[in-house]
Amino acid sequence: MSRPFRSADIRQAFINFFKSKQHTHVPSSSLIPHNDPTLLFTNAGMNQFKDCFLGLEDRGYHRAVSSQKCVRAGGKHNDLDNVGYTARHHTFFEMLGNFSFGDYFKKDAIPFVWEFLTSEDWLALDKERLYVTIYETDEEAFDIWHNDIGLDSERIIRIGDNKGAPYASDNFWTMGDTGPCGPCTEVFYDHGADIEGGLPGTPEEDGDRFIEIWNCVFMQFNRQKDGSLEPLPAPSVDTGMGLERISAILQGVHGNYEIDIFVNLMDAAAEILGIENTQQASLKVIADHIRAVCFLIADGVLPSNEGRGYVLRRIIRRAVRHGNKLGADSAFFYKMVTPLVKEMGEAYPDLIEKQSAIESAIEKEESQFAKTLAQGLRLLSGELDALQSGDVLSGETAFKLYDTYGFPVDLTADISRERGIRIDEASFEEHMQEQRLRARAAGQFDVDYSSVIQIDTPTEFIGYDKHDDSDVTILAIYEEGKASDTLTEGNAGVLVLDRTPFYAEGGGQVGENGEIRTDSGVFSVQDTKKSGHSIIHHGVVSMGEIHTNQSAHAQVTSDLRAASAKNHSATHLLHAALRQELGDKVNQKGSLVSSEVLRFDFSYDEPVTPQQLAKIERIVNEQIQANVAARIEHMSIDEAMKKGAMALFGEKYGDEVRVLTMGTSTVKDGIEIPFSIELCGGLHVERTGDIGIFKIISESGIAAGVRRIEAVTGMGALKYIQQGDRQLTTIAAQLKAKRPEIAERVQTLADKQRELEKEIERLGQKLASSQAASIVNDTQTIAGHQVLISHVAGIDGKSIRALMDDIKSKLPDTIIVLIGDKDGQLALAASVAKSLTSTIKAGDIIRHLAGELGGKGGGKPDYAQGGAAKPDNFNTVLSSLPTWLESQLDK
Ligand code: ALA
Repeated sequence: MSRPFRSADIRQAFINFFKSKQHTHVPSSSLIPHNDPTLLFTNAGMNQFKDCFLGLEDRGYHRAVSSQKCVRAGGKHNDLDNVGYTARHHTFFEMLGNFSFGDYFKKDAIPFVWEFLTSEDWLALDKERLYVTIYETDEEAFDIWHNDIGLDSERIIRIGDNKGAPYASDNFWTMGDTGPCGPCTEVFYDHGADIEGGLPGTPEEDGDRFIEIWNCVFMQFNRQKDGSLEPLPAPSVDTGMGLERISAILQGVHGNYEIDIFVNLMDAAAEILGIENTQQASLKVIADHIRAVCFLIADGVLPSNEGRGYVLRRIIRRAVRHGNKLGADSAFFYKMVTPLVKEMGEAYPDLIEKQSAIESAIEKEESQFAKTLAQGLRLLSGELDALQSGDVLSGETAFKLYDTYGFPVDLTADISRERGIRIDEASFEEHMQEQRLRARAAGQFDVDYSSVIQIDTPTEFIGYDKHDDSDVTILAIYEEGKASDTLTEGNAGVLVLDRTPFYAEGGGQVGENGEIRTDSGVFSVQDTKKSGHSIIHHGVVSMGEIHTNQSAHAQVTSDLRAASAKNHSATHLLHAALRQELGDKVNQKGSLVSSEVLRFDFSYDEPVTPQQLAKIERIVNEQIQANVAARIEHMSIDEAMKKGAMALFGEKYGDEVRVLTMGTSTVKDGIEIPFSIELCGGLHVERTGDIGIFKIISESGIAAGVRRIEAVTGMGALKYIQQGDRQLTTIAAQLKAKRPEIAERVQTLADKQRELEKEIERLGQKLASSQAASIVNDTQTIAGHQVLISHVAGIDGKSIRALMDDIKSKLPDTIIVLIGDKDGQLALAASVAKSLTSTIKAGDIIRHLAGELGGKGGGKPDYAQGGAAKPDNFNTVLSSLPTWLESQLDK
């Protein structure tokens, strides 16, 4: 074989090499880690194999090779802020890796590394350029490198705990705060004396001369939350080599951004922006970020304000701002999708398939940011105008720009610097830290895996085929996370059985509940979950006590199971109906199936119209009425995909999958196409007719481009329909109408109501003017002025003005105070002739009156109005008004 050169060929050579060493080639898993709340994004090849290392999963092979998509942006391994400014940091990269799950260990792993790197048949690297590091105390690794491989001891560098804590070392790899870990040996490549930098362990190690290319981890421990290390069931191997770094070496360049993929992407970006590619940092950022962004969107992440979506948003905005720096004045970043698909579509066909969806998601985010970019710039220049050269911009402002306007802090810093102003980075960091803590608390990316590994007894699930009860044995009891022999009445705990009819939460379906009875007590099961290969029952002892090794009878609450099965099967029919009616843009984003309701989240850009919903509901009900038997088959994942089975992104499937086919089928080109075919491990109905009825109860948007439908089935649907029906019957009875006439009748009532209101207003005015006629006789003289104070029943705020106008026309020079009184509300109005406003103002009268009455009011000098709820002291206030007026008029 000739030495590979293109990145694509190097990827293939790696896979071929390990295949020749009996490794199974396993495809890259999704960037969204499956079922792993400890991780934000897949950040290493070993992630998808975590349970294999922990001994919780056996996939039938014990050697594997993969080229894994990884993102290191956010979370424990975060390179986002370095991208563009170093020769080799990426947000997205591909990690080539070989793995042993309790099969070979150091003695084979190290020779594999050496052979692949140096053999003339493979990469044929110059041995003189290679150095290795080992964990300080790893004599075995030293021995293999020195004696078996024949490496000079000066080329074997020992690295101890150089990160400030036991086992915190460049040569001790951990995936996260908990989980599989172990000492490692790393291979370094010397890019040559003309490049600055020193060997690992020297103060100059961060330079670009000696670059780590391959990390080979000897997985030996499971790190616990308290930092202690528990040995793994069997020592294993996990390695990782960045495809971009090794490509740089084979292509004779020193930086990752000079390799084929990046040169092409940067050329494309330069062309789109109308500039020349001179390896500007901003072009590197754009080329790097388009990869992360496209692969994340392809794996189902969309820009949002939290969790993974937020990291995606930051990456897009960072790219947009760098484009802006290079002169882009309109959306450009989405145009980078085509060149990326050209570079990587062959290895990842997913990108080709989803190209237009990826483009529109990016374009939407870009144009949204364009708006805040301008707003943020305005806010920033406002703040800067108030400062002078040498001043400091507050961290709070920088954070606000970052947080509210999506403004990267380096943009804020750049602009401030132009005016000689720097930003208060410490305070900005404090705000960021607070935000990180909030995000962390909200994201819960922090689960203690040690509690999982303790329960490693496999449980047989016997709940398929309608078994909802069984004789079982209690294998283990856990109380407050610790193993225990007995659990007594009133205490909560977790039970592990040898086999169980209880379905554990999974595939969107919630865990089941029921009872586990022994001779001495009853454990009431409130929830059932998976933990590795075991199924664990959460609950509380409701009577007596239970012990380990006791025989027991486990009984699932059957009617709840039947209701969940209906909802679960209906979810599959809904999924198929949505795709039939709205097109294959619809992709499942999540689902929740309980005995009461089903919820289905899917990608779709706009609200589903009531007409479309009605059609979808009808399609599902047609499938139910066709009453076709549901078919469960087991087959290889490839076969399932060939049959067109829907699978979930990010879902981890074994070699053999369970495939559920439902509904009527059509025949196209001699091939039978079922209405619904999906990979699923859940519990389902036997025939579609068992679902009974399907009724959609709501449709809403839950995030940009994601809709949610909630629906009910069976008795739940009947209950929902009956409830609506009862409401209609009650309304019909109240309206004394037949049901079909209800809508018309309600309309007539509404029209009538409007007419009546108008009539009341007219009558009110009439009443007011007739009252006015008698009221004008009640004037009195106070301090030499004509004053009219009148308390008028039946007058509200709306009609008091008309009454006032009427009276005023008859008594133009009188000071008039009217108090309308209707339904416990007082309407206040005062009028003062213009010629008198220098003596007393209408507004003052109303303010005084309203104040005394506990209400509000005010207005102009010649006319003012107010209101109050009629208080108990009303009469006192009213009778003291002339005295108050006198005191005012006397002044
Ligand atoms: N899991 C190891 C790494 O990511 C190989 O470096």
